[in-house]
This record gives sequence, structure tokens and C-alpha cells, in this order.
Amino acid sequence: MSKEAKLELDGKVYTLPTVEGSEGEKAVDVSSLRATSGYITLDDGYGNTGSCSSKITFIDGDLGILRYRGIGIEELAEKSNFIETAYLLIYGSLPNADQLRTFSDALMEFQFLHEDMKYHFEGFPTGAHPMAILSAMINAASCFDEKIMRWQWGKTKEFDIVVAKLISQVRTIAAYSYRKSHGLPLIYPKKSYKYTANFLHMLFSSPYEDYEIKPEVVKALDLIFLLHADHEQNCSTSTVRMVASSQANLFASASAGVCALWGPLHGGANQAVIEMLEQIHKEGDDGSRFIAAAKDKNSGKKLMGFGHRVYKNYDPRAKIIKKSCDQVLEKLKINDPLLDIAKHLEEAALKDSYFVERKLYPNVDFYSGIIMRALEIPVEMFPVIFAIGRMPGWIANYKEIMEEPKSRIYRPRQVYVGRTLNPYVPLAERK
Ligand code: ACO
Repeated sequence: MSKEAKLELDGKVYTLPTVEGSEGEKAVDVSSLRATSGYITLDDGYGNTGSCSSKITFIDGDLGILRYRGIGIEELAEKSNFIETAYLLIYGSLPNADQLRTFSDALMEFQFLHEDMKYHFEGFPTGAHPMAILSAMINAASCFDEKIMRWQWGKTKEFDIVVAKLISQVRTIAAYSYRKSHGLPLIYPKKSYKYTANFLHMLFSSPYEDYEIKPEVVKALDLIFLLHADHEQNCSTSTVRMVASSQANLFASASAGVCALWGPLHGGANQAVIEMLEQIHKEGDDGSRFIAAAKDKNSGKKLMGFGHRVYKNYDPRAKIIKKSCDQVLEKLKINDPLLDIAKHLEEAALKDSYFVERKLYPNVDFYSGIIMRALEIPVEMFPVIFAIGRMPGWIANYKEIMEEPKSRIYRPRQVYVGRTLNPYVPLAERK
């Protein structure tokens, strides 16, 4: 069978090489097409465009498969934890005991922010959205650290330090962004707590009393981090790669990722799901009226937490998180009416021809918000939690670009459909 594609344009035949991935994914390499034929390929929203080759994460959206570095998400969710999974994503394989200790020690060593960063936090008004604070402060953190600013592409040893700083400090900044947005005093990290417990401590302790660390709460939040840790070329990861391709520093690239993640069609969806469920509850609807509205294009409503560009089957993360949701609510003895509404919405949508025909299934955000509510994490912090979780994926993608010898700046083309050449009209002659 031919491994080349033939494309006929204006009576000429162009031969294009094909590429096959390790899981049999096929692509036509069009990179030479413009030079040889004058044509570019057009794919609005990049729905059918591979922007890179990557060894990090594999998704089969039709079969509902997600693997980090070849390991199934179900197995990682059951046997691993967020920090070990972060190492796996960034460095390519599971760490041995020494590597894991070194990584954890580095996270501990770099968890404090420069003291002067406090003044930056003070500049934000009470009520500022923590995603705005997170993005700004991740970028600002690089100004306080010569290593981040001076670090150059290809310097691996120093890169390890910059990585540990980002993974560790994003959690400190995230907790401070919540404290600041509520006008609360900042709480410093503790040496005795591990990653996720320390985050909860910085979020919820007060200067007088430590927050009680419950293992089931730590486990549930750690699982949410792990399930969000990477998802190949989504909007925010592509943004990170785009910024990284200009050789911007890691913190600047990650800060751009936070902004891309913020929108309600991406990482903001978990917040939008809860707001939707609350509205349904307030209106006394069991979800049926909302589903009818979500099917009507003129209503401006969508069933948030449903649908995915890649998954045309159940999002495997949604299955794991739904189970965890039931367990956490039971352990914490919480009876949340929003869970009943969510379950009813899911059941009704999965039977409804509108959702069936369009292959719209619950995504990871459909149930994650209900767990975070049970953990008493405020709704505006939901996308922040997502950002902490996604950080290893962004870093792994940044590293992949950095290590690619033929890496070049990302610069898509366009088809211009605006006005053709027309003269400048002086102000007095304009109608
Ligand atoms: N509710 C109702 N209709 C929907 C929904 C939804 N949640 N999602 C898609 N559709 C409809 C679209 O209107 C479209 O209908 P049409 O063919 O009649 O025009 C069809 O399904 C295909 O949808 P697209 O918008 O083309 O799908 P796309 O791949 O562009 O968007 C997205 C995917 C953004 C996730 C979309 O499904 C959505 O907006 N979902 C709700 C927001 C959400 O949950 N986002 C989280 C994504 S996962 C994540 O980031 C972790």
C-alpha cells in the first residue's frame, strides 16, 4: 500500500508524504504544499490539524482512551498520585525511588515565594478573580528569580530546578490568589505536609488554627489534579507550545496557558457546570427544561460539562471522577441536591437523540465541580485547581519543544477574506 498521498490541483498532481504514529494514527504531511503548489490547507479551529508530533499523551476519542506516556489513565488513577504522574509526564517514565525523592525534595525546597511578591498580591483588589491573579503572578515570579530569567534553552540541569519551582510555586500562588481575593491573611506552606495537603493547608488554615487535613479530602483532590495533568494538544497546551516556540521562558509560557484555560469552553467549564446546576436547582427544574433549552440554538444555553472536541465516546476521566464523586460524598456524609440533578441530566441527555446523534457525552468537568464543592473549594477556584493539575502537561510539552532539534516558531497562515486594495480617504471626504 502506498505511503504517499496524491493531491490534484489545477491539473497538476502533488505527492505528499504520510506519517504514522505509534498507535496507528495517520497524517498527511502538508508542510511542503505551499512551496510546491501555492496552496495552504484551511482548517478552522484546527479540528483536523496535527500541530506537532508528541510522545507525551495518547487519546483515542472514539474509543474513550487516555494514556500518559503509554500508561492508561485508569491505572494511574488507581495506583499513582499527582506528583509521581507529574514526573512521568515531564521526564518520560515513572521515577525510581531516588528520582522520586529528589523530585519531592526539590518541590519542598522551592515552595516559598520571594517575600517581595507579597506586595504584588496586595495590588489586587479584593474580589479579583483568582485566575487573573494566578496568571499575573506566575509571570511575575520569573522577575524575582534570576535562574528563571537567565535560564537558556537546552540547559537541562537548570531546567530541572525551574520545573520544580513552577510545579511547587503554582500551588503556593494559587492558594495566595484565593486568600487575597477574599482579603484573608496569607498562610505559609508547611514542611510536614505533602503537595496536595499543603495546598489545602495554605488555602484553608487561619493564623490561629490549622485546617484539619482529612485523608479522603486529600485523596479526592490529588485525583482531580492527576486526571487533569495532561490532555495532548488542547487549547491551553497549544497556547503554551505557541508561546514556548518563540523561546519565551517557562513561567511566561505557563502564564499564557492559564489565560487560555480560563474560558468557559475550556477550564472554566467546571465553574460553569456548577453555576448551571445551581440555576436549575433554584428554578425548581429537574433538568428537563434546561436540556430543552440547550438543544435550542437560539437560547444561548449549552449543557455545560457535555461534549468534547476529541471524545466522541465517554470521557474516561469522567467515568473515574463520577465514581470518586459518589465515594467522597458518602465518606463526607454530604447530600448534595446538585448531584441528583447532574445524574438526571446525564441520564436524560444520554437518551436524547440530539446528544446521541452529536456524540455528546459528559466530560471531566461534569462531576469534578461537585467533588470540589464537597471539599468546600469555592467555585471561582475550580479553574485554578485545573491549572495546578495541568501544569505538568504544559511543562512536558514545553520540554518537548525545547528538546526538538528542528523546533521552529509556531506561525500558522490564513486565508485573507477582507477588502482588496483600496485608497485612504481623507477624514473630510468620509461619509
Ligand atoms: N450542549 C448542547 N449542544 C452542544 C454542546 C453542549 N454542551 N456541545 C456541542 N453541542 C452541539 C453544537 O451546538 C453542535 O451542534 P450542530 O452540529 O447542530 O451545530 C454540535 O454539538 C457539535 O459541537 P461543536 O461546537 O462543533 O463542538 P466543538 O468540538 O467545537 O466544541 C466543546 C467542543 C467546546 C467542548 C463543546 O462541546 C462545548 O461547548 N461544551 C460545553 C462546554 C464544556 O463542557 N467544555 C469543557 C470541555 S472539556 C475541557 O476543557 C476539560
